[in-house]
Amino acid sequence: MTDTTLATERAEAFEALANSRRSVRRFSDITVPEGVMRSALRSAHLAPSSNNLQPWEFHWVRSNSPLREAAVEACLSQPAAATSAELVFMVGRPDRLQDRIAKMVVHFEAEENVATAAYYRDNVSMNVEAMSIEKRNAWVDKSVALAAAQFMLAIKASGFDSCPMEGLDPEKVRTVLGLPETATITMAVGIGEGIPQGLYGPRFRFPFDDHCPRY
Ligand SMILES: Cc1cc2nc3c(=O)[nH]c(=O)nc-3n(C[C@H](O)[C@H](O)[C@H](O)COP(=O)(O)O)c2cc1C
Repeated sequence: MTDTTLATERAEAFEALANSRRSVRRFSDITVPEGVMRSALRSAHLAPSSNNLQPWEFHWVRSNSPLREAAVEACLSQPAAATSAELVFMVGRPDRLQDRIAKMVVHFEAEENVATAAYYRDNVSMNVEAMSIEKRNAWVDKSVALAAAQFMLAIKASGFDSCPMEGLDPEKVRTVLGLPETATITMAVGIGEGIPQGLYGPRFRFPFDDHCPRY
């Protein structure tokens, strides 16, 4: 098989995967294998992030966790949380950016990449410091959301379903997970085997061309 044929097949398979992912709000009693969760979380961790600062944390409330009930409640007891087999909170840590920058400096110094180490120490650190809290939180949220998208596609690739939820009480989530006020809760994701009643309607998208001007 030529590389081009392989690439086309992969692209078609990826589009089919993206097309098959839906937000499913009700799940069966089937459990999700731990390996599926771990693999999808590792994929999420491979998401791109601004300045590669990886500002995310994936707080996985497992099916048998003592935190489960309170975590579902923090998701306003939405069916996508209440019937999920597993729940993951996609959390941003703007408060840990400077620490991650310092680690980047150490990383690049160890690689004897003086210029990049200096870039993190001087430019990135200053840019982050100069941002308002709102801007910094939004900046972090962007990268966390990319990780969440990657996670949900990986879950679908393993034959399971998911639903992202921003309908949640961030204060309650922080309390349940023991997170500081400074942590941002980008979204929760319910995971499980979707059931037909979990699809609230056919997929709807506005016309593609309206969303994709070309130059
Ligand atoms: C950031 C974000 C937050 C969402 N919050 C909720 C939510 O709280 N509850 C819910 O049932 N669906 C939620 N959704 C799912 C959307 O309603 C869904 O993605 C949209 O209707 C498109 O459907 P599809 O994902 O099946 O293509 C959310 C989606 C995103 C991306």
